Amino acid sequence: MTISIMPNESATGAALTPTTATTTDALLGNYKRAPGQFVDGEGVHLIDADGKRYLDFVSGIAVNALGYGDTGLRQALHSAADGLIHVSNLYATEPGERLAATLVEKSFADKVFFCNSGAEANEGAFKFARRWARTRGDAKHEIIALRGAFHGRLFGTLAATDRPSYRVPFRPLAGGIGIVERDIGDLDVALNSETVAAVILEPIQGEGGVRVMDAGFVREVRALTKERDVALVFDEIQCGLGRTGTLFAYEQFGVEPDMLTLAKPIAGGLPMGAVLITDEIASTIKPGDHGTTFGGGPFVASVANHVLARVSDPAMLRHVSENGAWFGKQLQDIAQRTGRIRAVRGMGYMWGIDVMGTAAHVVNEAFAAGLLTCSAGEYTVRLLPPLVATRDELALGLGILEEIL
Ligand SMILES: Cc1ncc(COP(=O)(O)O)c(C=O)c1O
Repeated sequence: MTISIMPNESATGAALTPTTATTTDALLGNYKRAPGQFVDGEGVHLIDADGKRYLDFVSGIAVNALGYGDTGLRQALHSAADGLIHVSNLYATEPGERLAATLVEKSFADKVFFCNSGAEANEGAFKFARRWARTRGDAKHEIIALRGAFHGRLFGTLAATDRPSYRVPFRPLAGGIGIVERDIGDLDVALNSETVAAVILEPIQGEGGVRVMDAGFVREVRALTKERDVALVFDEIQCGLGRTGTLFAYEQFGVEPDMLTLAKPIAGGLPMGAVLITDEIASTIKPGDHGTTFGGGPFVASVANHVLARVSDPAMLRHVSENGAWFGKQLQDIAQRTGRIRAVRGMGYMWGIDVMGTAAHVVNEAFAAGLLTCSAGEYTVRLLPPLVATRDELALGLGILEEIL
């Protein structure tokens, strides 16, 4: 089926190239897509081919931190396009080196590895953990993830992702990777210092239902991993880079990991992932141990330098922190008033509500009403507004949500 769209003026003022939007059956059926097509965006709104505006509380699943049509991001993209697009990792370029230096300066880390996606960042972290662990003993290789985890869908990360529907059709999964309950007693039993290389956890599990890890538990995991000489990896692909109200989610928990993975918002919607690494682990990595063609290229890194400056701005972090706390309180109030929410969980601009009935039903109703939300499991509706959303814009979305509930 072909739907023609009239030549249009972008909501952000840029002339849109006259397009013919087509829906096609040529795309692989691995996504369940909402009806229609988005053709433009403005601030915290997406606009479909019929001109209908949607308040976006999905943000490309925590990617579009700066919303749509952001002037600074557009300028960063334009100036990046005037420079080098790609240079092999056989050579250095300034934007990637600057980005790595800034990430090091702002975090616990000493070194950074760039790649192209979240799953790829975690796969990198698994390899780095194993490389380091093998310097401690031949049998030390296992990676342990936690119940409810989502670390990606490539072969290594799929084994660390705890959803049967994602895993079962692809068995056998990569070996040496296991899932353990979010329980310090279970971890105590599982963490054999002779065989375990790393524990990976999301400080706030995203796909697993927006589950904020208990700070005491995270501290116990840190102590146990230190005691057993096991690397601790934080997957901040969804919850990192300002979403919790601090640049890194680990700052909320009072512990530092040995490695940390980033992706989603880091390059403003361009594909990029990163692994932040301590010297102790990084020093075991030699040329040839790992690599990727596009990782940290000058175009994408230039844009990421802009995004990082924006999301680490103290004013931005204060805005997310204050409005996020307010947002959570409003969700609690809606739960009380409607009796249709069983639980509210989250932090900053990352919230999950367990609804009566299915999450898919609420997500569909919200979509029809012009509010984009997404599910995280069967009963959890996830709310991930762009970090630039104002309190009024958050209130607008809350109003729609309450009406639906
Ligand atoms: C916590 C977490 N880790 C890893 C991933 C995988 O990232 P990507 O889809 O970029 O491979 C995701 C994606 O949703 C995620 O939320």
